[in-house]
Amino acid sequence: MTSILETVEVFFRYPGTSIEALRSLTLHIPEKKKTAICGHNGSGKSTLFLHAIGIHAPTSGNVLWKNTPLSYKRKELTQLRQQIGLVFQDPEQQLILNTPYEDVSYGLRNAGIPEPEIKLRTVKMLQSMRLEHLAHTPIHHLSLGQKKRVALAGVLVLEPELLLLDEPTAYLDRISEQQLLEELERIHSRGMTLAMATHDMNLAYAWADWMLIMNEGQCVMEGTPDEIFSRTDAITALGLDTPMLLDIWNALPESVRGDLRPPKNIEAFKQLFGSIF
Ligand SMILES: Nc1ncnc2c1ncn2[C@@H]1O[C@H](COP(=O)(O)OP(=O)(O)OP(=O)(O)O)[C@@H](O)[C@H]1O
Ligand SMILES: [Mg+2]
Repeated sequence: MTSILETVEVFFRYPGTSIEALRSLTLHIPEKKKTAICGHNGSGKSTLFLHAIGIHAPTSGNVLWKNTPLSYKRKELTQLRQQIGLVFQDPEQQLILNTPYEDVSYGLRNAGIPEPEIKLRTVKMLQSMRLEHLAHTPIHHLSLGQKKRVALAGVLVLEPELLLLDEPTAYLDRISEQQLLEELERIHSRGMTLAMATHDMNLAYAWADWMLIMNEGQCVMEGTPDEIFSRTDAITALGLDTPMLLDIWNALPESVRGDLRPPKNIEAFKQLFGSIF
């Protein structure tokens, strides 16, 4: 597996704190895959993402983008941030302009896209995030979930090579989550690499094709969701949940499960059930 982003023995401590937020963190984000990064609160997921785009630099160790260590020079960081898009955990940190329309078009304008194309792409993006009716509403009038969708739209519209999503589904209702996942499917099929930090193990199980588990600033497990969740004891010991569908599946008698592969989502579960009973 080729990695698009890598950290090698990265240590990092926030100024004025005594605990290492990242402790000898070595991990790879594989190119073209959908990677879920899981770990309990404070395990270092957001800090990792802030290292990926050079907002923070390691105290020691290296962050590599396509096998080259980040240089932290201003010009190269600007280029890097056109290739890597980060949707922050907190949308308030991301949104800088007055309205969703202004915010989503801002990045395109900065990237030197011609004005007619900016208009087209902005309108299309706002539509696909169900935000067109709020396009000109002041951002401070929006709900948290709506702000989150604006922040997502502002990064998605730039079509980076690697998209980092920090808890993208937090505050989203079911329909918005579904629409986000459909949008992610579309951009992934066009070749974008995706990595998502999430606490939602049901989502990680259904969505990811690769998983990284973080604990206390280290990457402690990596593998496919099937490999990760076959180690139930290790997952539970880290204070993480196992996916509900997998729990239900494992609770079925061996004679029913046979050598069928466990279903990843409710539709697959219903289909399998239909074929069993
Ligand atoms: N701005 C900050 N200043 C000081 N310490 C921080 C700051 N941000 C994070 N930390 C510390 O760094 C460690 C890693 O935090 P981080 O936010 O990366 O974790 P996380 O895995 O993203 O957690 P969560 O699941 O809650 O989002 C924690 O111990 C946290 O207290
Ligand atoms: Mg976080």
